[in-house]
Amino acid sequence: DIIFVTCTAPVNIAVVKYWGKRDEDLILPINSSLSVTLHQDQLKSTTTVACSARFKEDRIWLNGKEENINQPRLQSCLREIRRLVRKRRSNRDPGADVLSLSHKVHICSENNFPTAAGLASSAAGYACLVYTLSRLLSVEGELSTIARQGSGSACRSMYGGFVQWHMGMRADGKDSVAEQVEPESHWPELRVLVLVVSAERKPVGSTAGMQTSVDTSSLLKHRAEAVVPGRMDEMIQAIRKRDFSTFGELTMKDSNQFHATCLDTYPPIFYLNDVSRRVIGLVHRYNRHYRETRVAYTFDAGPNAVIYTLQPYVSEFVQVVKHFFPPETNGEEFLKGLPVGTVS
Ligand code: DP6
Repeated sequence: DIIFVTCTAPVNIAVVKYWGKRDEDLILPINSSLSVTLHQDQLKSTTTVACSARFKEDRIWLNGKEENINQPRLQSCLREIRRLVRKRRSNRDPGADVLSLSHKVHICSENNFPTAAGLASSAAGYACLVYTLSRLLSVEGELSTIARQGSGSACRSMYGGFVQWHMGMRADGKDSVAEQVEPESHWPELRVLVLVVSAERKPVGSTAGMQTSVDTSSLLKHRAEAVVPGRMDEMIQAIRKRDFSTFGELTMKDSNQFHATCLDTYPPIFYLNDVSRRVIGLVHRYNRHYRETRVAYTFDAGPNAVIYTLQPYVSEFVQVVKHFFPPETNGEEFLKGLPVGTVS
């Protein structure tokens, strides 16, 4: 009398960043954003949800440890999924009778990468939770709006390939949805490298960080109103044309502007460290050497570098990184690994 479903969801890495909310509860952003969803078998969350009449309450375990189920964002996702179950039931779908609405769920979720080190763990986690619940309870609908209410960036992990999150205009958030721009198969030569500079928990989480930025940074307002709309169009064009040089340049400029808004926040937020800045310098020297953009970096709310490049350049660039960051000379093992993969 227990049924359960297991699903996985991959991490997505933004090339036009989301930073700042216009509605904290519904998680509605002040600008649209665009990301690449990684391949399923790399950085991912795996979630099992079980459902039984015998369960007395909803419960959740993250990476083997039980967590508080009464977190508002978790509750929003559960409530919205159950709302869809009720809706389907009122449409007299016979499948809805299989599971009683009163059934409680037990959720078990794991990441195969460090949580909260700025590696988009909440994105994969909430996308996975919402998708797994939807499969267990057989509901359909615009699931990205539900994942969004877990963590903004999670809505983009509901799709593979190149994904945009439309900021939307409505106060109820119904038009703040993710949409696939191109599938993973569109750009098979594109590669992603993750340079793990530090697996430690970040000092300022994205939720609190972006709230302070919205309150104090005039650069963030300028970015959202005057920069991102045009950049979204240019980025989509670059992806459609598989124009790496434009894609890479826009990606680096957007990461730099995001970190500039963090410095413009008061008090300032520092996500990059000396190693991150050396990686930035190395990428620019590498590209200057070839007189074209062959490699691009981007950093989220942490010091770890995500590198976008094309298949022919991967092995040489990895050699260059290993040359300049030999792990044995760096006491702390700051370069933990270089997973290489296609995007999906
Ligand atoms: C820098 O989605 O983690 O990674 O909506 O408050 O949960 P909340 O924030 P979150 O922010 C991600 C910020 C970012 C940029 C991005 O992924 O677009």
